[in-house]
Parts: sequence; C-alpha cells; structure tokens
Amino acid sequence: MNSIVEKAYAKLNLSLDIRGRHPDGYHEMLMVMQTIDLCDDIKITLNDEGRFTAASNLGFLPADRRNIAAAAAELFLKEAGMEGAGADIVMQKRIPVCAGMGGGSSDAAAVLRALNRLTGAGFSAEKLEAMGLELGSDVPFCVRGGTALASGRGEKLAHAAPLPDCDIVVCKPRFSISTPTLFRLVDGCKLRYHPDTRGLTAALESGSVADVARRMYNVFETVLPRRYVDISAIKSVFMDFGALGTVMTGTGSAVFAIFDNTDTAAQARDALRERYGTAYLAKPVGKVL
Ligand code: C5P
Repeated sequence: MNSIVEKAYAKLNLSLDIRGRHPDGYHEMLMVMQTIDLCDDIKITLNDEGRFTAASNLGFLPADRRNIAAAAAELFLKEAGMEGAGADIVMQKRIPVCAGMGGGSSDAAAVLRALNRLTGAGFSAEKLEAMGLELGSDVPFCVRGGTALASGRGEKLAHAAPLPDCDIVVCKPRFSISTPTLFRLVDGCKLRYHPDTRGLTAALESGSVADVARRMYNVFETVLPRRYVDISAIKSVFMDFGALGTVMTGTGSAVFAIFDNTDTAAQARDALRERYGTAYLAKPVGKVL
C-alpha cells in the first residue's frame, strides 16, 4: 500500500485574544480552539520520483509545492529521511477558503498524521506539531484537534475540556478579510476589551454550552473596517434566530453561532445561505490523534 486517506477537519475560535507583539512581528495569542465535523477529504499517494502535487476541486488553489498540503508532505518526508520520495495529494475541499476556519492548516496537519501512519515513521504528536509550526501558526492545533487553549503563535497547546454536543452554524460571506491587514489594524490601536478566557475554559469545564456561547469573543471584530458591516449583520441574524452566542472565527470572514435546538439552527442556516453566501450545520469533534 502506498496510498492513504485522511479527513482534515475545520477549526473555530471560541475565543481569540491578542496579548502583545513579539520582536519578530508575530503576535502573542490566547485562543480557545475547537474542531468541527466540516472536513476536507485527502488522499495521499507516495511516488519514487520526488514529485509533490496537490490537486483539488478548487481550481484557484496552487497544485504544486506552494500548496500547504504538498509543503507538509515534503517537510515530513525530509524529516523521515525519505530522500527521493514524493507525494501526490488529491483533496476534496469543503472547508471554505480564507474563512478563519483553518482549512489549509488542517490539510497540512492531516498530511502529517497520514504520512506518519503510511510510512511507519512513528513520530510523536509533539514532533508532528513542531513540524506543523514550520508550515503555519494554526497547524500545531490541527494535528490533534479537539478543544484546546492555544498561546504563543498558536503552538503552545494546553488542555481544555471538550465542548459538549451542540448545534453549530457557520456562515461564510462572499467577501474575505486579509489576515495581515487585520493584524496591522490591531497594532495601530489599543484593545480596550478582551475575552474572558478563564471564564470560557471554566464554562467548558462545567459542561454548560450556554455559558460557553455567552463568553465567545474575538478581538479582531473590534478593529474591522466599516465595509465589513455584514459581519455584525450576520451575528444579528443568528441572535434573532435564538442563538446562545455568536462570534467571528480567526481573522474571518466566517461567523458562527451555537444553538441548543437543531431545527432553529437549520432555519438560521437556510436564511443566511440565502442572504450572505454559504452556510453549514456542524457538530463539535473531539481529538483526532
Ligand atoms: O503563521 P501563519 O503563516 O499562519 O501566519 C500568517 C500571518 O498572520 C503572519 O504572516 C503574521 O502576519 C500573522 N500572525 C501574527 N501572529 C500570530 C500568527 C499570525 O502576526 N501569532
């Protein structure tokens, strides 16, 4: 067997805080991250020609080493000492791109997990996370997934109690928001409000979905330029449908809400899909490694 399939799950930020800026330009983050069941399907086939390809159903994504999934395979095979080997990757992408849902990061993490099994390299989860950080700040979380408290660039991962079963609706409006631009806007102002991260992790510990949802908060929302007014409009629609809480994930542009009723969640999804672009029903997922 020289092929393997793996699922790459999307992530959401239940909270996102920026605590400072490092001399290298990266920001000190404090985030509660959650894996959901919306996923890309990935098939990896090893080759002996040292070729790295990444085909997908999205024609605008690069299909060579510039694709983070192919870059992950190249890094892994180098670390495993498999010089000369390459990987042909085929992806069925479902996670919206440029959404703050970690689609590319999750693809890269899935490639690392899958190649670890396929090659029998036997790297520890910690080693896979360290490789992941070379590819992107959100990749280390995506290696194991579940629910976690992430700090540093996003690579310092600490335990958080799993989000109990609930109905999640994610809406990805048609526009995207530039990540570097949002970080620059944060640099240009003093953040007045911060999420109650400790309260949020305590709510997870207590198992109260309503208490979790009420504490969801993302500092990037406070610096959004006026033209992204649809972000708050989508949040209003969610609350009108009876959401327990709603927030933008990462640097957007996806916004999600937590519901305690599947029927109203589905109604909110249908209404948002009609008005703003794409919308999905999702469930929380626990650790994947
Ligand atoms: O690490 P990654 O490639 O995912 O980061 C994308 C961009 O986001 C970086 O170039 C940087 O501008 C910004 N970033 C940051 N601080 C972090 C993570 C990302 O400034 N902790």
